Amino acid sequence: MKTVPNISPQLYSWMRDIRKTIHQHPELSFEELTTAAYINQKLSEIDIKPVRRIAGTGLVAEIGPPNAPVIVGLRADMDALPITEATGLGYASTNPGIMHSCGHDGHVAMLLGSAALLQKMELPGRVRFLFQPAEEKGNGAEKMIEEGGIKDLAAIFSGHIDTHFETGIITVDEGIICAYADPFLIQLTGSCGHAARPHECKDTIVAAAGLITSLQSLVSREVSPNHAAVLTVGKIRAGEIHNVVAGEASIEGTIRSTHQDARKRMLAGLKRMVNGAASYYDVKAELKFFESLPAVINSCTAASIARIAAQTVVAEKNVISQGPSSLGGEDFAFYLKEIPGCMVRFGAKVSDQTGPAHSPTFDFDDGVLPVGASWYAQVAQTYHQEYREL
Ligand code: NI
Repeated sequence: MKTVPNISPQLYSWMRDIRKTIHQHPELSFEELTTAAYINQKLSEIDIKPVRRIAGTGLVAEIGPPNAPVIVGLRADMDALPITEATGLGYASTNPGIMHSCGHDGHVAMLLGSAALLQKMELPGRVRFLFQPAEEKGNGAEKMIEEGGIKDLAAIFSGHIDTHFETGIITVDEGIICAYADPFLIQLTGSCGHAARPHECKDTIVAAAGLITSLQSLVSREVSPNHAAVLTVGKIRAGEIHNVVAGEASIEGTIRSTHQDARKRMLAGLKRMVNGAASYYDVKAELKFFESLPAVINSCTAASIARIAAQTVVAEKNVISQGPSSLGGEDFAFYLKEIPGCMVRFGAKVSDQTGPAHSPTFDFDDGVLPVGASWYAQVAQTYHQEYREL
């Protein structure tokens, strides 16, 4: 099997510069114009062209023998979050209120690093690099698919930085690694009136409070204890002033689950409880679901290729399982509904003091960049090699 060469000090510093530049100039979902232009410039530095713009701000480029029938996809996401950075880093965000707090700056740097590595190697098949917008919004992957981003791909691979693990660790798992995510909105409508005369009104705050408390019994009473699930209410809005009974209330939350049966039961239970609350508290209750995310389910074959690649890049003992599926969502799931593939995690822990992903103090160890770049390049080589032997 072809093994990718070690990352040279020059390539490492090229990737670190990319990471820092993108970190300094974070952009929100579907607004990654500067990021896309910068990636395009970096691809041309390593002689990769043409680069196709798709899904608004996304980019796709291919290398390898022109007529090779098999194309393997490597994907990185490129968007940031609406968070005000508080890391104090020398290359902290210069865009107020926006921060790369999930490591997508690192994902782009790694994928470009892998492109630089593969560009210098003989390739038995084609490799497509997919720089995807709007992962945080949850629909960048769908747009990429709609616009032909994965057309003719035999398989797709991706990785996510994970600061729960030390640098040098790669986690590889078959099956589910990220949960089904079902965001919802409950709108309660009653009627306003004087705080001293509640019998003349329909109080939606009392209804909301009762309903929210009841919803927490769904996980403990509706779902098998062997299946992971969570229901979080993250936002409530109701009322205007202390002496007026609130006639309107809205509740927003999300259901996460790692098993279809658990998901069905949670969704059915939510509907039942919302309807029940309407009659119990004599208010109008409407339930709406926002766009849901499927679970990330790695195929067995793709996971075994991802594992072989990981074991080639880091010591075998450093290729481990992530443990039970995360309850987080990840739109890489949409690709895996269409074609086989696998997502792995790259350890990148800085210290116990650093904040978690999606926090204002999130940071990751740059030492992950060579690991990720080597894995991306190796998984493409390994895929082509194994495919020929299948
Ligand atoms: Ni992320």
